[in-house]
Amino acid sequence: MKYFFVSTPIYYVNARPHLGHAYSTIVADSVARFHKLAGDTVFFLTGTDEHGDKIVQAAQKAGVDVQHYVDEVSQSFQNLWPHLEIENDAFIRTTMEHHKACVQYFLQKVYESGDIYFAEYEGLYCYGCERFYTEKELVDGKCPDHNEKPVLLKEKNYFFRMTKYLDALRRHIEEHPEFIQPERYRNEVLAMLREDLGDLCISRPKSRLTWGIELPFDRDFVTYVWFDALINYISALGYPEDERFRKFWTGAHHIVAKDILKPHAIFWPTMLLAAGLPLYKGLRVHGYWTVGETKMSKSLGNVVDPLAVAQRFGVGAFRYFLLAEMSFGQDASFTEEALVQRFNADLANDLGNLFSRTLAMTHKYCGGQVPECGELDEFDREVLHVGHTALANFQTQFQHFHFSRALASLWELVRHLNKYIDKSAPWALFKAGETNRLSTVLYVALEGMRKIALHLWPIMPSLAEAMLAQLGWKWNLAAVDLEGETSSWFGLQPGSAVASSSNLFPRQDVRREGPPSVPGGEQEKALVDIEDFARLELRVGTVVEARPHPQADRLLLVRIDDGGAVPRQVVAGIADSWQPSDLVGRQVAFVANLKPRKLRGQISQGMILAVKSASGLALLSPTHPVPPGSVVS
Ligand code: MSP
Repeated sequence: MKYFFVSTPIYYVNARPHLGHAYSTIVADSVARFHKLAGDTVFFLTGTDEHGDKIVQAAQKAGVDVQHYVDEVSQSFQNLWPHLEIENDAFIRTTMEHHKACVQYFLQKVYESGDIYFAEYEGLYCYGCERFYTEKELVDGKCPDHNEKPVLLKEKNYFFRMTKYLDALRRHIEEHPEFIQPERYRNEVLAMLREDLGDLCISRPKSRLTWGIELPFDRDFVTYVWFDALINYISALGYPEDERFRKFWTGAHHIVAKDILKPHAIFWPTMLLAAGLPLYKGLRVHGYWTVGETKMSKSLGNVVDPLAVAQRFGVGAFRYFLLAEMSFGQDASFTEEALVQRFNADLANDLGNLFSRTLAMTHKYCGGQVPECGELDEFDREVLHVGHTALANFQTQFQHFHFSRALASLWELVRHLNKYIDKSAPWALFKAGETNRLSTVLYVALEGMRKIALHLWPIMPSLAEAMLAQLGWKWNLAAVDLEGETSSWFGLQPGSAVASSSNLFPRQDVRREGPPSVPGGEQEKALVDIEDFARLELRVGTVVEARPHPQADRLLLVRIDDGGAVPRQVVAGIADSWQPSDLVGRQVAFVANLKPRKLRGQISQGMILAVKSASGLALLSPTHPVPPGSVVS
């Protein structure tokens, strides 16, 4: 039995989860499920990174206590994952006691072995990045990430003797091509190693920052956030004494994007070498999602909310799109048009049609049961050959993180089966009374569909299970023989009942942008098109604060947690019916895309929905709690 460990980056809690976080975590979940399907024992880790300047600044900006802030944002990640069918085995937070103890143990160990020293350092420091920059790294004298001039800082700090391990690391990378992949990132790291990297400053004086883990050998300093964060990968496994660490560490695979290549490819392995620990098995690096051609950013207001997309198109379709669209390692562009186009072509047309027509024919011609498979002819054998090859390719590509190629291979089988049905024409066989041939054709097709559904399970778990149920196949993960699927074609039991229809992928439309159509006669004025309604963005959020408007008796200032990093303020004319204290904690529906405007000097970002009646104003709330920011549809 093989032990397989997969991790995502632990995400900073200064932003709510967005498309980028969702992608890495969905990839990790799919990989974890693929390995489960292959019979491995799997441990899948994700979590949040909660120390450092950035987090303190974000909490201050939101006007809340840091601990409260990190608890809340970390929870928003934990709440989101199940909605995206992400089943992690553990969720690590760097503020957890066992993580802190593990970081201190690690530091003490490296300190005692002589690889941590104290020295004065003067350099250009970027607060945003929480690190010193060399002149060479700056662009026009500014930090390339934050576009701000770094500050000249002189202070005494602790340094990790990283340089001592760089040669060993370079040799390891050269001798183990699979250590860092895709190749372009392996080359990038080898190029970095040719530069003068220097040692790594791993402390921050408490006079400047207290939100961190104290150095065990000098309580006046806290640990540099990256040194603290990287250790999550082993603290979560219970390093040093836990059995899980012993079992899983040697099968460790880290998934990250290109932005954090250096800490994972250089800091982390040299830290492991200094602590006398084996290196992880593989670092898998992906590119960035842009929105259209534009970088996704809070200031541009184009951050994609993964929950909203999953709710609109279905979580399975969303996960499929992400894996099929991005060629792992390269950047990809996210647009609703691209998603709809791929959805309609691959899922509604190719896969959806295959399911709906084959199941309908099985009902019409075979009483709704999987038929017996008769003798195979040349045509059928071709299907088996195409199928086995496609599935073997899928498995190899998936194992190597080539998800888009893996899915393209699987779709060769989907399309081949559609053609096979067209050519075999079961309707004509039925008419001609060729029952044996008809049964064989439908069996071959149904079994191919079972294989497709099974291989799609890592990508769209609940949809795949629904497809398997429609085929009358009892889903049992432990009984799956993934390798065997590439050489035999007889998994379905003749006689099992199949569903009479399938409509898992109804066609989608792109939401129309731009102004609503110009109304014509009186009647058209009264009625609106569905597209007009769709222009309104209605959401549900949780009231986190409410207080009287300082200049207007009938207005309240209501702050609503809408899933964004900072709650939005809405000025609501509900003071006649509602006490501020009765609102806090309540979920309310509101118009989210109303143009912000000032009401008696206070900015209002939206409008709360309410019903006026004789007994006062009733607020619209969901029947059960929903994640803040959920879309009303
Ligand atoms: N806390 C550090 C990681 C520490 S790991 C020991 C951090 N956090 S982060 O919140 O900034 O997350 C960065 C990661 O989020 C990226 O490496 C990637 O996994 C994901 N993404 C964030 N934006 C992204 C895109 N636009 N596109 C794809 N993924 C991106 O860095």
